[in-house]
Amino acid sequence: DKGNHRHFMQKEIYEQPVVVAQTLRSYLRPLEEQVALPDMEFDLAGVERVAIVACGTAYYVGMIGKYWIEQLARVPVEIDFASEFRYRDPVFTPSMLGLVISQSGETADTLAALRHMKESGLTTGGIINVPTSSMAREVDLLLPTHAGPEIGVASTKAFTCQLAVMAALAVNLARAKGRLSREDERDIVRHLREVPEAMSKALGHDAEIEAIAPKIAVARDVLYLGRGPEYPMALEGALKLKEISYIHAEGYASGEMKHGPIALIDDSVPLIVIAPSGPLFDKTVSNMQEAQARGAQVVLISDAEGIAQAGENTIATIEMPKVHPLIAPLVYAVPVQLLAYHVAVFKGTDVDQPRNLAKSVTVE
Ligand code: M6R
Repeated sequence: DKGNHRHFMQKEIYEQPVVVAQTLRSYLRPLEEQVALPDMEFDLAGVERVAIVACGTAYYVGMIGKYWIEQLARVPVEIDFASEFRYRDPVFTPSMLGLVISQSGETADTLAALRHMKESGLTTGGIINVPTSSMAREVDLLLPTHAGPEIGVASTKAFTCQLAVMAALAVNLARAKGRLSREDERDIVRHLREVPEAMSKALGHDAEIEAIAPKIAVARDVLYLGRGPEYPMALEGALKLKEISYIHAEGYASGEMKHGPIALIDDSVPLIVIAPSGPLFDKTVSNMQEAQARGAQVVLISDAEGIAQAGENTIATIEMPKVHPLIAPLVYAVPVQLLAYHVAVFKGTDVDQPRNLAKSVTVE
């Protein structure tokens, strides 16, 4: 049931503050201000490496997870597309945790990768939305997302709930490895608890985003830029746009622009810049300005501080609340999803059932 929404995708975008809060509730102990995972039969302190495997949007959660786990727990993380993983003959070490991420828990490539990890003797974990799925049954440690059924082919609420669980895992690993003070953990828990409200504020910009959509809908190519954890967000933005609006889009790490893609820039190319203010902001802005000097039509997604500093000469700015860098990907997901949604609606495509795509890809 779509309720009073026009599409399942729109409904699922709007559900995010509630389902992310629901997911976080099962991983946070508010009184102790601690993060907690379900009981497990192995000791996280023994994990020396993490190998993440996923497809599509779930893969981008893995990329963001690599930033978080390495930064907080100082445990090296490698990440592969599930379809590539087995064929590169990866090196397994005994203290490696194999982690799959999947909404459906049935994606054929991810399931095959999981089985390969198990056969190779790895302990496995899974961030999975469908609790009765094959992957949920086969992993050693199930880390459920509580997004509820996701109907729209374009993944939205599953993505942000996966991020919430990934953050909880990174914090637990950091604590197990003795890398996190009690005070730092409290701090992180407070920031995570701010996510649902920050997401609601982001949703409050829906009408402005809808107003930008016609300008993007006429483009042949759209580029998304981000740096650090916002780089995978740029990839996610581009994937979302291509799958439902059929406009060619690419995500780039901001610093990579001048190594090739800047050749594409002229005044017909919208550039969506995902850049919360903070330590990485100035560098991203200088990459953005290089593109602006060549005519790029910039949409800047930032907070008030970032927009005050760099919002000039853009075709639009979308103001997000000021948030801690750790939770920024969860909040910035909202405008990225809404932009793809409104462009697709403006173009009149089948938003919930885009051509050539299935909700769950059960062939390798
Ligand atoms: O069910 P899964 O999370 O394993 O699915 C993985 C991808 O097929 C999925 O995220 C796909 O990329 C979405 N259509 C993206 O919106």
